Amino acid sequence: MNVLVAGGAGYIGSHTVKRLKEAGHSPVIFDNLSRGHREPIDILKVPAVVADNRMADLAAARATVEVVGPGGLDREGAGGQRG
Ligand SMILES: NC(=O)c1ccc[n+]([C@@H]2O[C@H](COP(=O)([O-])OP(=O)(O)OC[C@H]3O[C@@H](n4cnc5c(N)ncnc54)[C@H](O)[C@@H]3O)[C@@H](O)[C@H]2O)c1
Repeated sequence: MNVLVAGGAGYIGSHTVKRLKEAGHSPVIFDNLSRGHREPIDILKVPAVVADNRMADLAAARATVEVVGPGGLDREGAGGQRG
């Protein structure tokens, strides 16, 4: 499953990304690096969008869709509705 992890370059987020990868999922990091670091992105080798989710940033939204790909995200978790 594709999973967008907001704050994925932070402490809890990076551990979440690691566990998701180990479980066979495809996590994508979304982080503005205000407190997180680029190192987890490089070490975990997952796609990442560096942007701020407080801003109505159309370019960031487009970049997220490009990184996540046409399969989209499962917003509800396992078994949830795609949208
Ligand atoms: N070694 C350790 O035990 C250790 C280390 C670090 C932190 N901690 C603990 O972990 C907790 C904090 O962890 P956390 O993961 O919740 O916080 P965090 O600050 O590590 O992660 C939050 C992430 O969200 C990102 N972010 C914030 N606002 C954003 C926005 N508007 N748009 C996009 N990204 C945004 C930040 O850049 C950061 O990467 C605290 O309790 C702290 O004490 C423990």
